[in-house]
Amino acid sequence: MSEVTVIGLGNMGSALARAFLDAPQGCAVSVWNRSPEKAAPLVNQGAVLTPGLSAAITDSPIIMVCVTNYAAANQILNEVAANLSGKLLVQFTTGSPQDARISETWAHEHGAEYLDCAITGSPSSIGTPSAHILVSGREAVFQKAEPTLRILASNLDYKGEPIGLASAWEMVFLMPYYGMFLSLFHSVQICQAEGIPLEEYITVLDEQGKNYEKWLCENIQSGNYQETSAPLELWAGGIQQIAQHARDSHIHAEFPQLVARLFQQAMNDGYDREEVSALFKVLQKSS
Ligand SMILES: NC(=O)c1ccc[n+]([C@@H]2O[C@H](COP(=O)([O-])OP(=O)(O)OC[C@H]3O[C@@H](n4cnc5c(N)ncnc54)[C@H](OP(=O)(O)O)[C@@H]3O)[C@@H](O)[C@H]2O)c1
Repeated sequence: MSEVTVIGLGNMGSALARAFLDAPQGCAVSVWNRSPEKAAPLVNQGAVLTPGLSAAITDSPIIMVCVTNYAAANQILNEVAANLSGKLLVQFTTGSPQDARISETWAHEHGAEYLDCAITGSPSSIGTPSAHILVSGREAVFQKAEPTLRILASNLDYKGEPIGLASAWEMVFLMPYYGMFLSLFHSVQICQAEGIPLEEYITVLDEQGKNYEKWLCENIQSGNYQETSAPLELWAGGIQQIAQHARDSHIHAEFPQLVARLFQQAMNDGYDREEVSALFKVLQKSS
């Protein structure tokens, strides 16, 4: 029996499992991933790779799910719905507040407790002092899970009982990035149109301490868009949810819809597993 099971061993799920394995107090972890080979480094560190999904659920009282999107998470959970009674399900998969509401109801119908979590940082932040995790769900359930969640992030940001709050806050935190990407990539195009060497703009970003922006421009400069820790596909999923949320909530949807269309174009062009800076290639092509 383990203390926690992590389902989904991409960049983020692996970081969650690794933080449990590295915990000074020790924390036994079971893991499951659709492609089992991704579990190898974690198994070398002491994780238990379960032979199947059912065993992943029965192995631990706390089940954490961290996959690409809710469609994938629901597919996984539907397969093991009969085993979920009495478990605490912690959803780390990015989704909309409505996704969280539907999932919470579904989990309760299957006898499971439910928390929704949203991670605002990168996989490398997990288990470090800079990790920040937003949480929503029933307070008593949060208190029960708190010691386990604190292994992942000392900065646990409990937002309250309405289950949609963690993902609503995640959208709030994410939205400025999309504005930044489009503004930054447009500025690069201004430089190109006016013969300003990109190197000069990169120096200015450096002087301003804008390390992420600088790094994105360096991707463009080198033409190396190789994914590091958050592929474009995840950013595309995030803005699609934000655009859908804007339409459903009858708030102004023009900007998120424009960004969602550009990200969809990047997906159509095959940049889904590249860095988010690959969006620049879409802007450049359509200019
Ligand atoms: N990376 C970040 O910086 C970051 C930051 C905040 C939040 N998040 C959120 O964390 C979640 C996971 O992100 P990630 O970075 O780990 O993504 P990732 O590296 O692309 O990994 C995706 C994971 O989802 C699994 N998966 C996808 N479709 C599946 C399906 N139909 N059935 C079963 N498994 C499926 C993949 O399994 P395979 O290995 O078999 O393909 C893999 O384990 C996302 O919702 C993301 O928005 C990520």
